[in-house]
Amino acid sequence: MLSQSEVILDAFSAKGRATGSLDNCKVEVFGGAPGDTALVALGRKRKGKRQGILQEVLRPSSLRTTPLCKHAGVCGGCCWQHIDYAHQLRLKQEVIERMFSEFSQAIVYPIIPCDPPFHYRNKMEFSFSQNKAKDHFLGLMMGGSDKVLNLEECHLTSKWFSDIVIGVRNWWKKTSLAAYHHYQDTGSLRTLTLREGYYTKDKMVILTVSGNPDYAIKKEDLDTFVKEVRAVGTEGGLSIFLRIHQIQKGSPTQFFEHLLYGKDHIKEKLNIDEGFLLTISPDAFFQPNTRQAEKLYRRAKQMLSGAPSKTLLDLYCGTGTIGMVMSKYFDKVVGLEINPYAVIDAKANLEANRISNMEVHQGDVAQVLKELGMKRESGEIDAVIVDPPRSGLDDKAIAQIGEISPKMILYISCHPKTQVDNIKSLEALGYQLVKVHPVDQFPHTVHVENIALLQRRGFFS
Ligand SMILES: C[S@@+](CC[C@H](N)C(=O)[O-])C[C@H]1O[C@@H](n2cnc3c(N)ncnc32)[C@H](O)[C@@H]1O
Repeated sequence: MLSQSEVILDAFSAKGRATGSLDNCKVEVFGGAPGDTALVALGRKRKGKRQGILQEVLRPSSLRTTPLCKHAGVCGGCCWQHIDYAHQLRLKQEVIERMFSEFSQAIVYPIIPCDPPFHYRNKMEFSFSQNKAKDHFLGLMMGGSDKVLNLEECHLTSKWFSDIVIGVRNWWKKTSLAAYHHYQDTGSLRTLTLREGYYTKDKMVILTVSGNPDYAIKKEDLDTFVKEVRAVGTEGGLSIFLRIHQIQKGSPTQFFEHLLYGKDHIKEKLNIDEGFLLTISPDAFFQPNTRQAEKLYRRAKQMLSGAPSKTLLDLYCGTGTIGMVMSKYFDKVVGLEINPYAVIDAKANLEANRISNMEVHQGDVAQVLKELGMKRESGEIDAVIVDPPRSGLDDKAIAQIGEISPKMILYISCHPKTQVDNIKSLEALGYQLVKVHPVDQFPHTVHVENIALLQRRGFFS
């Protein structure tokens, strides 16, 4: 039995948990708010702090609002649904201003809100899990816990997502399949990934199972799975995939996909300029919030509008979307992307949208830049867009970008911490950060997307 105490909460941690202090020890409370006086069940002291489970809000903070979701405060998918959205935006703005405060010459613009801040996610991954009693859990991780919540509703996505989760959980209960157990490498069912085109309503369902042959899933189970998913009903196209997650000690993890039903991709639109129609394969990255992606790309376009217009590099280009949006404003666009499936999609997208001045190469950014032999002497690369994964740019990629020496670098990031580190390295190569513009792609979470514009010193007056 955990001890309970009254705690006054007064701030947020970097992970979005409310924090307070008790007996000189920091307490973190998932679902709390600065300004709350709360009754909290306290976990053991670890690394100088204690995790608390919110039992009751005794005196609520003025920052609180009524969440839409019945799982708010428990489900780890949202940590801030109980916080007024205007305040969430203020918090994110403050984080960006603090992180970029050392670049005193840069203008930090006010964060671009997501309106409405619900039903925005076009992709979500749910986990299968079982306890000792073999109960069936399918949903998201609980906040501050390693347990899976049995999700019944979610307001970050459209209703179809929770309908499918409920349907698949019902299907699972009728089978003898077990959830995958990481440490023992037993069981079959790992995750359920759902994607949806916000505009097209096309839907994709990916059931990821263990590659351990002892737990291979039988054809009759797959047939009933497809039947259950189809029975949920949908407007738009439906694609259903089985993904086999193969692990082998000493070798890289491999994934094998098998199409069970429908087309091997979904379509999505982007309402920018005359509009773009895009193909997205199960493995390819696509910005998880289509409405905000449009705002992000429009702002990126605006920020680059002062750039000379010869050649643009779109590094980490995914399915080629940013480069395509920019292609009207440059003579030539070159996209680089490591994921071969995303490259196939990018090429299909170029054709479908009749873009003839963009090419896409597959491979690691640093490697391909080297192979293409792009150097500052050629002077032909006017601008580079980078949109790397959370880990940011590696040293080799930074060095290659330095070799090319573009006049402008537009850096889009979903992890401003690595972005700041990389910008320091780019400044050491002769660049200056001039503009920073956060975009709220992920309301009710701590995550923030951020655009940063750097210019080569001495090129612009
Ligand atoms: C945040 S996504 C950006 C995608 C794209 N710019 C967009 O807006 O949709 C990052 C992309 O970088 C790719 N990637 C990761 N490491 C890479 C590398 N070393 N070289 C090239 N591409 C890489 C990933 O496959 C992913 O498509």
